[in-house]
Amino acid sequence: MKPHIYFNSHLDSPDEWRAALATQFDDFEFSVGEEVAAPETVDVAIVWMLPDGGLERFVNLRAILSLGAGINQLDPARLPAHVPLARLVDVSLTRMMVDYARLAVYRHHRKFHLFEQRSRERCWIYMPPTLTTATTVGILGLGELGAEIAVSLRHEGFNVFGWSRTPKQLEGVATSTGRDGLIEMLKLCDIVVNVLPLTAQTRHILGRDVFAHFKRGACLVNMGRGPHVVDADLLDAIDAGIIEAATLDVFTVEPLPEAHPFWNHPKVLVTAHAAGTSLPATAVVTIAGNIRRAMAGQRLSQQVDMARGY
Ligand SMILES: NC(=O)c1ccc[n+]([C@@H]2O[C@H](COP(=O)([O-])OP(=O)(O)OC[C@H]3O[C@@H](n4cnc5c(N)ncnc54)[C@H](OP(=O)(O)O)[C@@H]3O)[C@@H](O)[C@H]2O)c1
Repeated sequence: MKPHIYFNSHLDSPDEWRAALATQFDDFEFSVGEEVAAPETVDVAIVWMLPDGGLERFVNLRAILSLGAGINQLDPARLPAHVPLARLVDVSLTRMMVDYARLAVYRHHRKFHLFEQRSRERCWIYMPPTLTTATTVGILGLGELGAEIAVSLRHEGFNVFGWSRTPKQLEGVATSTGRDGLIEMLKLCDIVVNVLPLTAQTRHILGRDVFAHFKRGACLVNMGRGPHVVDADLLDAIDAGIIEAATLDVFTVEPLPEAHPFWNHPKVLVTAHAAGTSLPATAVVTIAGNIRRAMAGQRLSQQVDMARGY
């Protein structure tokens, strides 16, 4: 087997990926960028985003492998509908996402968002710390990432609630589904962490109607996708004191435009879509497994259900 692998990402290093793939395949062809000789021989596309020319010229493509856990950045409507698409689940990504969630949750639990503001004002205000058992965290999305985050926070002693599309059982985590389940959960949460995939059902889920049910003074962590949040509604909810502060990693437009009111907002921390990434050294095992499946005509691992949207 000598797969022809096409690679496209402005975030990931093709050289590192080529080297990682060389640990898995004795022989393979590797093409990068817009110019590809003999595009009809490409078997598998490994991509973060689509190249400008799309993937249509790879007429014999057997699989599209996302370099992200999410797939919306690939603009699914532009993908060849007959080619299976898989998202990436990887231990290094999961570890980093759990770390980010813990860091952001502790930032709010220990009121660092307030200390950050006060320190700039040279203002010494004592805010007594509390135990993790006094803080309730709600996780939106209990998939590969959300479930790990929920369990990790539970181990830290937080009260943890989780919300998903279908019922889930996680030890020590109170779970719910449906709109009513979401609202009941939000009323209780001091910190809400979003780690949903972006689908037609979840786009703009964090808007005015839902913020109205947040516990007053709650904090929001968005590490899912930018369009989950209606930006203007979040700013209004912050102004109204419904939301005390936010830690945001993802945005509707990335990079976040210079004029956006999130920048420099005293109650918003912006991180640059840096919550987690997949390292080639670990992720190549999953990717290589899917290349072998694609070459053998088998169903991909973590194959996306296009009707469901994730
Ligand atoms: N910021 C970053 O750097 C970064 C990095 C990686 C990933 N992400 C984001 O994290 C997302 C989640 O990744 P994952 O691997 O955990 O995905 P996943 O395993 O597919 O899990 C998705 C979870 O969301 C739930 N869900 C989906 N639609 C829902 C709906 N309409 N209502 C309620 N719950 C719904 C699913 O419910 P079921 O369990 O019932 O299916 C599942 O629990 C990605 O799609 C991506 O957007 C961000």
